[in-house]
Amino acid sequence: MKISVVGGGYVGLITGACLAEKGHHVTIIDIDKEKINAINSARPPIYEKGLEELLARHSGKNLLASTGYESVRDSEISIICVGTPMGEDGSADLKYIVSAAESIGRELKNSGVYHVVTVKSTVPPGTTSGIVVPAVMSASGNNPNIGFAMNPEFLREGIAVDDFMNPDRVVIGSDDKKSGDLVESLYSDFNIRILRTGLVSAEMIKYASNSFLATKISFSNEVGNICKSFGIDVYEVMEGVGLDHRISPYFLNAGCGFGGSCFPKDVSALIHLAKSKGVDPVLLRSVLKVNEVQPLLIIEILKKRLGDLNGKRIAVLGLAFKGDTDDIRDSRAVPAIERLIMEGVDVHAFDPMANENMKAVFPEITYHDSAAGALENADGCLVMTEWPEFSRLDKEFDKMKKRVIIEGRRILSIPDAEGICW
Ligand code: UDX
Repeated sequence: MKISVVGGGYVGLITGACLAEKGHHVTIIDIDKEKINAINSARPPIYEKGLEELLARHSGKNLLASTGYESVRDSEISIICVGTPMGEDGSADLKYIVSAAESIGRELKNSGVYHVVTVKSTVPPGTTSGIVVPAVMSASGNNPNIGFAMNPEFLREGIAVDDFMNPDRVVIGSDDKKSGDLVESLYSDFNIRILRTGLVSAEMIKYASNSFLATKISFSNEVGNICKSFGIDVYEVMEGVGLDHRISPYFLNAGCGFGGSCFPKDVSALIHLAKSKGVDPVLLRSVLKVNEVQPLLIIEILKKRLGDLNGKRIAVLGLAFKGDTDDIRDSRAVPAIERLIMEGVDVHAFDPMANENMKAVFPEITYHDSAAGALENADGCLVMTEWPEFSRLDKEFDKMKKRVIIEGRRILSIPDAEGICW
């Protein structure tokens, strides 16, 4: 099939490359010329496991990239993968969605070939029918050969290619069968459950899924805080809880909370949506509240061990929002470092990949290119990211004045670290 993917960011790039791997002819459209050149010359503009190999196999062949929308005219499907950043009030900002929809519509003016505009971006329920449909239809001069679908993504950073190729499920929302069937044919050889819904339900499934996962994490963190007061290990407790198949063992790892480009943004957007409909989302508000408190709790524990933090040298290990990425968006290390700076701490940070990104946020702290460097002469240490390599640290902590180590993620394998909530 011929497919145009609008947006060469994280979701668009993975979607385009994976569909090319499935044998489709894909054009990725983006305004960023550098990104376009990178894709066309098989250089991945972001790091994602398996992406480089996919680009090497398909770039310049059945995977092209362009700044123009011309490919839409020849495509049977266009897939909107542009960003929906969080606006000032916590709602999703839809300006990129609107502009993508209008550009697609303009290309489809007078086209006689049936074309389905598919939204993959995470958008508030009602966006496809209420905003995308009118924008495309008006720009296309009400071309009757256009259908619409909503096909949310559930990709995790770091393993997005594998998540795309081996999903737990595919959700396809459409208000007419023909559009949904065409999008479903993209997944004909995936051998997994395909759930067909209406447009609005598909949009809501994405928000509800991310909010549920975030709820599991905040729940574990709250149970962890209670466990700590009993002097017991929340990991042992949640292992027992997760063995119930109705609960599942995943996303029950307690610690300093969730970050990243999706969970905080999507839970906030769902709260905003609920309020706009007169519903008070009590549980979701608490999910965010727990997540705000966790990174500050770790500082409280540090204070209990060290007293006044003013003038103390503290090592922060891990700056990325999770391991195996340089992404610091909504990383729990940010509020923790902010608080340390407020307390007058001399912060020494190390992350295997994210030092450079964090320098833009906190230029005033000291960065090291090894954990040992950050730990040298430190009065205390906080572990904020679950980097697998941190599990091998031990002797490095001997460089500290005294081994005062507070773990915000269960990753160390030394007996003398204190857990944030275990
Ligand atoms: C998430 C969703 O998993 C994915 O389906 C969606 O499409 C995008 O958002 P991602 O943001 O890449 O993916 O990261 P994920 O691996 O889910 O972790 C998110 C955050 O939760 C990280 O900060 C991680 O450290 C934290 N986390 C995760 C926990 O604190 N405990 C857990 O048990 C799991």
